[in-house]
Amino acid sequence: MNLSGTICINGQGHLEIGKCDVVELAKTYGTPLYVLDEDGIRQKCREYLDAFRSYYPRYKVLYAGKAFSTMAIFRLVEQEGLGIDVVSGGELYTALAANFSPKNIYFHGNNKSMEELNFALSAGVGQIVVDNPYELETLAQLVEGRKKRVDILLRLTPGIETHTHHYIQTGQLDSKFGISLAGGAALAAVKQALKYRRLKLRGIHCHIGSQVHNSESFALAARRMVEFLAQIREETGRQLPELNLGGGLGIAYAKEDNPEPIALYIRRITEAVKAACSEEDINLPTLVVEPGRSLVGEAGVAIYRVGAIKEIEGIRIYVSVDGGMADNPRPALYDAKYKAILANKAARSPVQKYTIAGKCCESGDILIKDAHLPPVEAGDLIAVPSSGAYQYAMASNYNRLPRPAVVMASQGRAEVIIRRETYNDLVRYDRIPSSWGEKESLSLVM
Ligand code: LLP
Repeated sequence: MNLSGTICINGQGHLEIGKCDVVELAKTYGTPLYVLDEDGIRQKCREYLDAFRSYYPRYKVLYAGKAFSTMAIFRLVEQEGLGIDVVSGGELYTALAANFSPKNIYFHGNNKSMEELNFALSAGVGQIVVDNPYELETLAQLVEGRKKRVDILLRLTPGIETHTHHYIQTGQLDSKFGISLAGGAALAAVKQALKYRRLKLRGIHCHIGSQVHNSESFALAARRMVEFLAQIREETGRQLPELNLGGGLGIAYAKEDNPEPIALYIRRITEAVKAACSEEDINLPTLVVEPGRSLVGEAGVAIYRVGAIKEIEGIRIYVSVDGGMADNPRPALYDAKYKAILANKAARSPVQKYTIAGKCCESGDILIKDAHLPPVEAGDLIAVPSSGAYQYAMASNYNRLPRPAVVMASQGRAEVIIRRETYNDLVRYDRIPSSWGEKESLSLVM
C-alpha cells in the first residue's frame, strides 16, 4: 500500500503516524479520530517552495485554508513560509486568532458580505481577490475615505474544463465564480478597476478546478492568463505584476489515482508561463499558487472503531464504524473513492471485500464500497488514508454526532489541535422559546 510522509506500518503490525502507534492514539483520544502527520505537511510545503526556487524567480505559495481551516495548520504553514487564502470572515478570524500575519492573507469569495469586506480591510489583509463587478464597486465605495490603497486581484474564468467531478470544476464559462475572459467582461472589469484611486490592481487570478491529476489544463490556463496580461498592456499600457493560478493539484485517494508530483506540476506551469511571457514579450509576473488538498490531504488519516458487522450471504459484508458522512461527506457528495487499512492488523494480507458503512441514519452513508481487508472483527480499527483535506472542514453534526478530535503527530509526540465535541457542545446554541413557560427539569443521566 502506498503511504505518504511518516505514515507506515510498525514492527507490531500497527499503523503508525509521526512515530505514534495508531492503536495507542485511539486508546488515548478515542474514535473517530483524525490524525495529521505534521512532518508530512511540512514536507509538502517544502516541495512547493523548493520547486519554485528551482524553476522561477518570483513566487508565492498560499495554503488554501478551506481544505482544513484550523489555527494549528495556519501556524504550521506560516512557519514554513507560506501565505494563506481565506474565503470567509470565519476563516479570516481563525487565521488572525492564530496570529497569522495579515499581509500574507488573501481574501477570496464570490459573495463577500459588507461586514466581511470591512473586517478584511480593518485587519489589513494583503490582498482582496475581487470576484465580480458588484464586489469591485462595493469595495471601491468602502475604501473611498481611506488613506492606504488596497491591493486587489481580479478573479477570472478562463473557459477551461478540467477532468474532475463537475461539482469541483470552476474554470469553465458556466461557473458562479469569477469574471469571464470571453466576451470582453474581464477587460471591462480591469479598466474599471484601474479607475479607482484607492484600489491597486496587482494582477489576475484563476482557479480551474480541484483534484486535477495532470498539469495540461493548468498549463493551458497559464497561457491564456498570460495572453490576457499582454492584452491588458496593449489596451491600457499597464503591465500587472502578479499572476495567481489558484490551486487544484490532486492527491491519491484510491489506487487508480496517479496525480503528478508537486515538483513536476510546478515545473510545467512555470514553463508555460515563461514560454507565454517570452512570446508575448512581457516581464515575468510574480507567480502565485494556492494549493489546499495537495498540502494537507495525504497527511491526514481518519481512524474509526468497528462495531456491528452484517453479512448478507453472497452479496456483501457491511462493517459499520463509529463515524461516517458526518465527518466525511465526500463519498456521499462526490462519489469519492477511498482505501482502508485495518490499523491494528495492518501487516496482515487482505482476504475479503468489505463495505465500510457509517453510522448515520441514511442508506447513502457508505464510506467505502469495496475495501480489501484482512478478516475484520468488532473492536478493530479502520484507518482511512488521505483524509486531511475537505473532511473535517466539511464535517457536520448530522444526527447530532459530535465532531471528532484532531491530533497532530510528529516524532512520537501527539497533541490535540481540535478537541472532540461534547454533547454539551451540541446543545449550546439551542433555545426553547421562553413564551412556552418552564417544564420541571429532569436531571440528565449523562
Ligand atoms: N483556490 C481557490 C480559489 C479555490 O476555490 C480552491 C478550492 C483552492 C484554491 C484549493 O484547491 P485545492 O488545491 O485544494 O484543490 N470540497 C471539494 C473541494 C472544493 C475545492 C474548492 N476550491 C472536495 O472535497 O473535493
